[in-house]
Amino acid sequence: MIDIHSHIIPQVDDGPGSLQVSLEMLEIAVEDGITEIVATPHILSNLEFQREKEILARFEELKAEAQAKGLPIKLHLGSEIYIEPEIDLNHRIATLADNGRYFLIEFPMQGIPVFAAEHFFQVMMEERTPIIAHPERNAGIIGRPERAAEFVQRGSLLQVNAGSLTGRFGSTVKETAWKLLDAHLVHFVASDAHDTQGRPPKLRRAYDLVAERLGEEWARMLFHDNQARVLRGEVLEPPQPLPLETSRKKKSGLREKIVKWWRKEED
Ligand SMILES: [Fe+2]
Repeated sequence: MIDIHSHIIPQVDDGPGSLQVSLEMLEIAVEDGITEIVATPHILSNLEFQREKEILARFEELKAEAQAKGLPIKLHLGSEIYIEPEIDLNHRIATLADNGRYFLIEFPMQGIPVFAAEHFFQVMMEERTPIIAHPERNAGIIGRPERAAEFVQRGSLLQVNAGSLTGRFGSTVKETAWKLLDAHLVHFVASDAHDTQGRPPKLRRAYDLVAERLGEEWARMLFHDNQARVLRGEVLEPPQPLPLETSRKKKSGLREKIVKWWRKEED
């Protein structure tokens, strides 16, 4: 499996606090069956790209240590960019493994910024493709999953967290993740790992669940094949989405549920 979303570089964001923990995370990933992993530290604004050199140095150090330990895992560098009205993608770490095309983008948990669709349209004209990180955790998409479908129809790709599929983020997020998956709107599953315990770099359990529900071929596509293409900068041909299953009867109380979940998220 290939993991395209992880916080494994020590001391650059809210990921591991030491090189030792980073290496432990890589050991966990190897054990779980991950053969390639993209380090995607948070880039919270265009200004943060100024830290590129420092991030690169720490990444190279981790890579060298992993190699010295003989860990059978290939490390790539990218970032998880927090959405802004203008994103400067002309940086080595802006696209995953510097492929020049695909970048991982994060929305605020509370909703979808009004400028997102227009901005994506602009970047797609330059042959850039947004991969939206964990849409199933976004309050706007939880409330109206059809908004995720709109983004896909306009050329964005979606990355769901393995932990969302297994219930790590609660039942509302889990339901949304599976709803998107069933509608063929998900293109990647990734770990979004931050540590060794609460959010470790593990994909296997989610892989098994996806294989059970949608078949082995589908699981391979969402945990390996699409990722391999993205890292090579190749064009992806996403499957035709199916109509979203709208469980209208569950709508009552959903708002309260989202607010409750969101508060928990902020703690
Ligand atoms: Fe992340």
